[in-house]
Amino acid sequence: MKLLDTIAFVGLMAISTVATATSESTAFTTHSTAGIKALVRRRLPQHQHSFNFSLSANTDSELESYSVTNTDDGNIRVQGTSLSSILYGLHSYLSDVVHVDIWWYAGSQLGDAPSILPKLSSPLNGSSIVPYRYDFNTVTTSYTAAFWTWEDWELQLDWMALRGINLAPAWIGIEKILIEVFQEAGFADDDIQAFFTGPAFLAWNHFGNLQGSWSSILPFEWVDGQFALQKRIVKRMVDLGITPILPAFPGFVPRAAPRVLPDAQLLHSIQWANFPENYTEDTFIDPVDPLFAQMQRSFITKQQQAYGDVTNFYTLDQFNEMIPPSGDVAYLRNVSSNTWKALKSADANAIWVFQAWLFAQNTTFWTNERIEAYLGGITTDSDMLILDIWSESMPQWQRAQSYYGKPWIWCELQNYGATINMYGQIQNVTQSPILALEESASLSGFGLSMEGQQDNEIVYDLLLAQAWNREPIDTETYFHNWAAARYSSDQRPASIYNAWETVRTTVYDNTNLTLMPSVPKSIIELVPRTSNMADITGILGTKLPYDPAIMVTAWQQLYRAGLQDTSLFNNSAYQYDIVDWTRQVLANAFIPIYKTIVDVYYMPNQTTESRVTRLKTQGQLLTKLLLSLDGVLSSNKNFRLSTWLSAARSSAPSSAYADSFEYEARNQVTLWGPSGQLVDYASKAWSGLMKTYHLKRWQMFVEYLILTEPAQYNQTEFQAQLLVWELSWVNSTGAHLEEPGEKADVQEIIARTVEQWGQIFA
Ligand SMILES: *[C@@H]1O[C@H](CO)[C@@H](O)[C@H](O)[C@H]1NC(C)=O
Ligand SMILES: *[C@@H]1O[C@H](CO)[C@@H](O)[C@H](O)[C@H]1NC(C)=O
Ligand SMILES: *[C@@H]1O[C@H](CO)[C@@H](O)[C@H](O)[C@H]1NC(C)=O
Ligand SMILES: *[C@@H]1O[C@H](CO)[C@@H](O)[C@H](O)[C@H]1NC(C)=O
Ligand SMILES: *[C@@H]1O[C@H](CO)[C@@H](O)[C@H](O)[C@H]1NC(C)=O
Ligand SMILES: *[C@@H]1O[C@H](CO)[C@@H](O)[C@H](O)[C@H]1NC(C)=O
Ligand SMILES: *[C@@H]1O[C@H](CO)[C@@H](O)[C@H](O)[C@H]1NC(C)=O
Ligand SMILES: *[C@@H]1O[C@H](CO)[C@@H](O)[C@H](O)[C@H]1NC(C)=O
Ligand SMILES: *[C@@H]1O[C@H](CO)[C@@H](O)[C@H](O)[C@H]1NC(C)=O
Ligand SMILES: *[C@@H]1O[C@H](CO)[C@@H](O)[C@H](O)[C@H]1NC(C)=O
Ligand SMILES: *[C@@H]1O[C@H](CO)[C@@H](O)[C@H](O)[C@H]1NC(C)=O
Repeated sequence: MKLLDTIAFVGLMAISTVATATSESTAFTTHSTAGIKALVRRRLPQHQHSFNFSLSANTDSELESYSVTNTDDGNIRVQGTSLSSILYGLHSYLSDVVHVDIWWYAGSQLGDAPSILPKLSSPLNGSSIVPYRYDFNTVTTSYTAAFWTWEDWELQLDWMALRGINLAPAWIGIEKILIEVFQEAGFADDDIQAFFTGPAFLAWNHFGNLQGSWSSILPFEWVDGQFALQKRIVKRMVDLGITPILPAFPGFVPRAAPRVLPDAQLLHSIQWANFPENYTEDTFIDPVDPLFAQMQRSFITKQQQAYGDVTNFYTLDQFNEMIPPSGDVAYLRNVSSNTWKALKSADANAIWVFQAWLFAQNTTFWTNERIEAYLGGITTDSDMLILDIWSESMPQWQRAQSYYGKPWIWCELQNYGATINMYGQIQNVTQSPILALEESASLSGFGLSMEGQQDNEIVYDLLLAQAWNREPIDTETYFHNWAAARYSSDQRPASIYNAWETVRTTVYDNTNLTLMPSVPKSIIELVPRTSNMADITGILGTKLPYDPAIMVTAWQQLYRAGLQDTSLFNNSAYQYDIVDWTRQVLANAFIPIYKTIVDVYYMPNQTTESRVTRLKTQGQLLTKLLLSLDGVLSSNKNFRLSTWLSAARSSAPSSAYADSFEYEARNQVTLWGPSGQLVDYASKAWSGLMKTYHLKRWQMFVEYLILTEPAQYNQTEFQAQLLVWELSWVNSTGAHLEEPGEKADVQEIIARTVEQWGQIFA
C-alpha cells in the first residue's frame, strides 16, 4: 500500500479508513524532513544549519504535536509527529520568538531574522486540535491564482505549510487530463475547445456553471504550461506535508456529446447567472450511466500516472449553484451513490471532497430530507469530506445534523469576489469552531474558503492558529504578537500596537451578520445610481459595520508609528498596510461625497442652473478624491491593475494570445461576463482601475445628472450608455497604463495625500 500523506501519518483511524495505509510507506518522502530544510534554505539561507528537525512517532495522541527546544550545540530543534506539525512549530518559533514571518503579497520577511537566532527561555510546544487544516476555495484559483507563476506558488505553499495547512486542492492544469479523457471518448479538439472557458473563468467551468470562452479559445499550449506547473505544485505540496486534493471527473462534457456519445444518458445544467445559453447549461453525463465511471477511471488513472500516488482526496462538485435534474430523494441518493462508486472503482481509497455551498445557496431546494438522501448515497461516512463553506456566517452543519455523520471542515469564507475592504469577525472565528468541536463528533478540520486571497490576512491567520488552541484565542494578545511579527520586530513604536488594537475591537469585530456577513463592497466600485448605494446590507452590501471615525483614529496610529520609526517605510508589510489603511479612509470618505451629490441633485426648489453648478462642484471634488486614491494605490505593486494585467499577458503562451489574456483579466474585475452578467462582483480597489474605470463611470454619472432633470432620471437608460463604454474599456487591451506611484516613494505619496486631504485624516 502506498504512503499517503501526513494526515494518514497522524493516525486518523477514527475518521478515515485510509489511515491504515500509513505503515508500509515507500513511494513518497513524507517521512523525510528534506522539504522543510529546503524551505529554510529558500527563505532563511543564512540559517540553513541553525535548525534540527525530527519527525517522531506519534505516541499516545491521535493528534499532531510539536515541540521547539534549544540544542546543546546552540541550534534550535523542532520535533513533531508530522511534517505539518514541525512546520507549524517552526512557524511559532519564527513568528512569536524571532518576530519574522512570511505574508501574502508583502512576501517573505523571514530573511529579517538576526544572524544569531534567539534561544528559547522555555520550550515551545503545542498540538493541533483537528486533523485537517485546509486552504483554498475552488474559485480562488481563478480570482487570485489565474495567472500565477511558479514563484507565486512557491510563496503561497511556503505560507500554507508554515501555517500548518495539511490539505488543499491542486486545480492547476486539470484541463490537460480532461483533454485526454475527452479525446479518448471521441471528442475532436474543436469540440473540446468549445467547452473550455477562457483562463480567468476556469473555476466555473470546473463547476459546470459555464462553458465556452467569450475571448479567444483556451490555447492548448497554455494548458501544457499549466500542467507542468501543477506537477511542481503537487510535488512541493507533498514535500511540505500538504496532501493535495486532486480534481475528479465531475461529469461535465463538451456540448457535442449527443453526436459523439449517442448512447450516453445526458442531462443539462441550468442556465447560470443569466449567462447567454451558449455559455452555460453545461452537458452532464448522468452518473448512473456506466460511461461516467469509465471516464472517471480514465481520469484518475491519468492523474496517478502524472503525479504518482500522492493522495486519495478528490474534489468533485456536481450541483454548485445548480438545481439537480430531480428533487426526488431516490434520485438524489442514486446520483451520489453512483458518483461515489465510480470514484471508488478508480481509487479504492478515494475520499470525495466537496464544497457544501449548494446547501447554503438554495435552502428551498436543499431541504434536510434531500441533503440526507444525497449524503446517504455514500454509505461509508469516512469516504466523504465536506467543506462547510461559510461557517462564520451561514453554517449548514447544525441544520444538516453534522452532515449526518460525514466528516466536515469548519471554513471561514470572509469575502466574495476577492473584494478589497477591511472586515472581520474575530469573535466568531475563535469561538464558533471551538463550540462546534464540542457539539459535532464529525468535525474534522478548520479551513479557509475565501473566494479571493486579498486583504485582512490577520483574520485568516487567526483561524489557522485556533486549530492549535483548545480555548478560544485571546485576540488582544494575538493581535499584539501578530503585529510584532508583521513588522519584523517587537521594538516598534507603541502606536503601531495601538493601531491594531483599535481595529481589533471595531473594524475586525463585526457581530451583526444581518448588517454585514462578509467583506463589504466600496460604492466606488459599483455602477453609480441615485438610490441609497451606501446603505445596502447583506452579501455584497455596502454598509460599513463600524463608525468610519474609528478607522481614521486607527490610521493615525499606524501612520504616526511610521513617522516615529521611518524604517517602517522600508518594511514590505508596513508598505502594504499603510497603503491599504489609507485606501480604506479615502474609500470611506467617498460616501459623504456621494450622498451630497444625491442631495444636491434632488434638492427641491432650485433652478436648473444652480443644480448644475452644485453638481459640477461636487463632481470636481469626487474626481480629486479618486485621483488621490489612485495615486496612493499606485505606490504599491499589489494594488495596481497593471500588476494583474501584466501577469495575464505574461501567462499567455505566445504574444498572439497576450491581448485575449489581458481581456480576460480586465473582464473578470469589471463586467464579469461577455456583457456584464455579474458586473462588479469581483471589483477591485486598484490604481489604474480607479482612474481609468471607476472614476470614468462616476464622471459619466455626474454628467448624466447634469443633463437630466430629476423627474426624467432613468437608471436603465444611464446603464445602457455606461455599458457601451464599459465594453470598450474591457476591449482596450495593450494600452499603456500610467501608474504614477511606480517610481515614487510610499512615504512621500502618503504625506502628500494627507496634506491635500487634511480634514479627512484629522
Ligand atoms: C543539528 O544539525 C546540524 C547540521 O545542520 C548538525 O551539525 C548538528 O550536529 C545537529 N545537532 C544535533 C543536536 O542533532
Ligand atoms: C508542553 O511542555 C510542557 C513542559 O515540557 C508540558 O507540561 C506540556 O504538557 C506540554 N504541552 C503540550 C501541549 O505538549
Ligand atoms: C453565443 O451567442 C451570442 C449571441 O447570443 C453570440 O454573439 C456568440 O457569438 C455566441 N458564442 C458562441 C461561443 O457560440
Ligand atoms: C439508479 O441507478 C441505476 C444505475 O446504477 C439505474 O439503473 C436506476 O434507474 C437509477 N434509479 C433512479 C431512481 O434514478
Ligand atoms: C432554488 O430552488 C428552487 C427549486 O426548488 C428554484 O425554484 C429556485 O429558483 C432556486 N433558487 C436559487 C436562488 O437558485
Ligand atoms: C457566528 O455566526 C453564526 C451564524 O450567524 C451564529 O450562529 C453564531 O452565533 C456566531 N457566533 C459568534 C461567536 O459570534
Ligand atoms: C443589525 O443590523 C440590522 C440591519 O442594519 C439592524 O436592523 C439590526 O437592528 C442590527 N442588530 C443589532 C443587534 O444591532
Ligand atoms: C529597504 O531599503 C534598502 C536600501 O535602500 C532597499 O534595498 C530595500 O529594497 C528596501 N526594502 C523594502 C522592503 O523596501
Ligand atoms: C418649494 O416651493 C413650493 C412652491 O414654490 C413650496 O410650496 C414648497 O414648500 C417649497 N419646498 C421647500 C422644501 O422649500
Ligand atoms: C428608461 O429607459 C429605457 C431604456 O432607454 C426605456 O426603455 C424606458 O422606457 C425608460 N423608462 C422611462 C420611465 O422612461
Ligand atoms: C471588441 O473587440 C472585438 C475584436 O477585437 C470587436 O469585434 C468588438 O466589436 C469590440 N467590442 C467593443 C464593444 O468595442
